[in-house]
Amino acid sequence: MMAQKKPKVADARRQAAIDRMFDEGQGHVFRFWDELSEDARNALVEQCATIDFDLMNRLVAEHVKGAAGKKADRVIEPAPMVPVPASDEEKRREAEAHTAGVKLLKEGGVAAFLVAGGQATRLGYDKPKGTYPITPVKNKTLFQLHAEKIIAASRRYGKRIPWYIMTSIANHGDTTGFFEEHDYFGLPRGDVHFFPQDMIPAVDKDGKFLLEEKGRISMNPNGHGGSLLALKKSGALADMKKRGIEEIFYFQVDNVLVKICDPVFIGYHHLEGAEMSTKVVSKAHAEEKVGIVGLINGRLGVVEYSDLTKEQMHERNPDGSLKYDGGNIAVHMLRVDFVERMNKGGLQLPYHKAVKHVNAIDEKGAPVPKDVKNGIKFETFVFDALGEAEKSVTMQVRREEDFSPVKNAEGEDSPETARRHLVEQWTRWMRAAGLDLPRGGKGTSPWRIEISPLTALDEEELIARAKTGFSFSWELYI
Ligand code: UD1
Repeated sequence: MMAQKKPKVADARRQAAIDRMFDEGQGHVFRFWDELSEDARNALVEQCATIDFDLMNRLVAEHVKGAAGKKADRVIEPAPMVPVPASDEEKRREAEAHTAGVKLLKEGGVAAFLVAGGQATRLGYDKPKGTYPITPVKNKTLFQLHAEKIIAASRRYGKRIPWYIMTSIANHGDTTGFFEEHDYFGLPRGDVHFFPQDMIPAVDKDGKFLLEEKGRISMNPNGHGGSLLALKKSGALADMKKRGIEEIFYFQVDNVLVKICDPVFIGYHHLEGAEMSTKVVSKAHAEEKVGIVGLINGRLGVVEYSDLTKEQMHERNPDGSLKYDGGNIAVHMLRVDFVERMNKGGLQLPYHKAVKHVNAIDEKGAPVPKDVKNGIKFETFVFDALGEAEKSVTMQVRREEDFSPVKNAEGEDSPETARRHLVEQWTRWMRAAGLDLPRGGKGTSPWRIEISPLTALDEEELIARAKTGFSFSWELYI
């Protein structure tokens, strides 16, 4: 291969970024320099300037040249959990947790934190996933549904709940634009903060960077673990401290049933003095694609579904229940000072590698076919921080009240199942409130129904509303 000619630019800072690329053996990214416009050249050099070479060199040495990340000898055991309350004692503890959570919310000690930097590849949707229309009647988007839950919770507790939203470079503008366009769904603008997570280069099997286009290096978001770093780098943590926030309620954009700022979860976590906590559900079936919260060689963590063997997925206890059943719904509580600690001396989370197709062009500038696994992507996972927490609560919840994610275009975990679960939940609430609905096939409403979070956040609220005289009307179309 011919040696790459080093580009010369007038700006000293930019020249230093170019020199560094050559020093690090990545000068080939300037292969198409002569074909690039002035703007494209500047953009490429600016992209180079964002790269953390200490990190990249370590990752390549460990994961590409070395054998890091091999998960051979891991002993996995179920984690201790707070169960869904059944006994009187468990119900008493739940009530105690509820009181503690409400107290903290009324003091303004809790922030909501959404991770929405993912790429929605499986859904086959090319806009930010939060802009996906999801509710059955009004077609509200995921973002609107979440926003209204936050508004309703703020009203209920009489305190503003600031909302921090992590995006990625790829969807940041579209996300903020969407909120602007919809007037922040009624939230005070000063209470909604957006910040993008870092991007990290993908590499080939020799540790070399790939080009996505002639003037752009292939990069991907650094995983939702990057949210801990982004909270710090963006100034969000500092902002939280200024506002007196102690606890962060973390959730994913794709879960339509998420109980944002659930006081019971906040209470259990806070009373325990935990640093990071997790909600889990019983798996819908043995091979459901959820990670499993468990003790991994004695430390709390999550084993991804892709890392469990078929035997492990199906392993059962003597009573017939699944042995590995703590399905991670990716709802966490994080203490502000814990996030601070996780950033001491750089982000304290391991990187995982995935050998995958990476959007890239070859040496001649032709796109690499989609079915070729041409690259290695690096990602961090927020749940790896569980093992660093001095105390933690794993709380079991009912899936039908807490978890229905939109992941795939069709089938399991799709918009269709999410809408169905919403209708089922609202049907239960309406019946509990004495509003008798006709029954369809599975006992749920045969109609599409929808309850706005602004009307009722939960069953109790709907019951209370119904008592004060609640009127509603049906729409009929023949
Ligand atoms: C994830 C969890 C899994 C859990 C399931 C519950 C991982 C590796 N696994 O699976 O244990 O049971 O959710 O639904 O996360 N995101 C970012 N930045 C990134 C990557 C992801 O913000 O760099 C966000 C996405 O926008 C999304 C969330 O993280 O909100 C989850 O990402 P996704 O890739 O969909 O995770 P799953 O494989 O579905």
